[in-house]
Amino acid sequence: MWQFNELMHPMAEEFRISLGEGNTPLVKSKAIGPAMGLKNLYFKLENLNPSGSYKDRFAAAFIAHMKSRGQHLCIATSSGNTGAALSAYCAAAGMHCVLIIVDGAPVPKIRQMQLYGAHTIMVEGFGKNTEVTNAVFGQLDVLTQSLGIPLPVSAFVYCPEGMQGVQTIMYELMQAMDVDHVFSPAGGGGLTLALARGANIFAEKNEVQKKPSVHCVQPEGNDTIASSLRNGSQHAADIPGATTKISGLQVPNILDGNEVIMECRALGGNGYTVTDKIVFELQKKLAQQEGIFSEPAGAVALAGLAAAVDLNEVNPEDNIVCLITGSGFKDMLSVETHFGLPTIATISANEMKAAIEKIQS
Ligand SMILES: Cc1ncc(COP(=O)(O)O)c(C=O)c1O
Repeated sequence: MWQFNELMHPMAEEFRISLGEGNTPLVKSKAIGPAMGLKNLYFKLENLNPSGSYKDRFAAAFIAHMKSRGQHLCIATSSGNTGAALSAYCAAAGMHCVLIIVDGAPVPKIRQMQLYGAHTIMVEGFGKNTEVTNAVFGQLDVLTQSLGIPLPVSAFVYCPEGMQGVQTIMYELMQAMDVDHVFSPAGGGGLTLALARGANIFAEKNEVQKKPSVHCVQPEGNDTIASSLRNGSQHAADIPGATTKISGLQVPNILDGNEVIMECRALGGNGYTVTDKIVFELQKKLAQQEGIFSEPAGAVALAGLAAAVDLNEVNPEDNIVCLITGSGFKDMLSVETHFGLPTIATISANEMKAAIEKIQS
């Protein structure tokens, strides 16, 4: 990630903390793309970052920034992945980490934070209810300001220093190939905005004329940005509460929504809303037809692409990238509950041959 140092805030080498984040694989679809009639569909495997999501790029940039300012305490909010990433990089940097967790965040994400040594506090209604969520952010704003430390919410409105790291996803894509479309899952919209800004910065610094269209995909149950982007509105809409079950995308408040609408639109991007049901179906297809173990949020971009194909908004020859933003290991409860997987039963060694024969028949 730090290879793009000159495209980010200048950072002295001694502070550039790394656990091997970034430079993630870009793999061509073997089955899903061809079945959709697409010749050039690629998946960017952000699930392969050190703590299992793209948020490692945010955490690496943010913790480097804190280190460069001599700070030793990180207080943050998280729906899971930001917290896991921050706790990993705090552990590596020898910093303390306190995390305020969204109500109902998946247990594996919380356990991951705890094992890295972070303190976790889950607040009832946080992330589900707009009033509670605003109250949490309000209190944390006051607290962190009194302590003289930044509040690392992964959105430009709170933390541009960290989001600079996320922009590197787009630098890698534009360095690798001539991309026509990038589909991005959105909660508060920070990731999608980082892609759009990354495209503009990379194009300007490298004198590239063509920039990819960045599309914003949201679950119907957290449609703060996508419909506004599609219907020509300039404003994101906050909603009373997120009803989607997709962890990471339950952000009923406006964070970077207005800027996403403006900057994606300028790049020719559009908004797509998708049902949770189609997201889970595509999570399963990614695993069974591509060998990609994604968390539900990581399958949302692909669900948006499926909608774009139905609407004839992409061409069969286009170079299309769907971000796979987090690992399936992050949300094993959804794996347990949504796919009707067989029970794990023990049999004797004598019964094994018959069991294999039954599968073969
Ligand atoms: C796996 C995953 N994908 C996508 C997102 C969406 O990011 P944003 O809130 O910046 O839109 C998140 C946010 O937590 C996430 O954890």
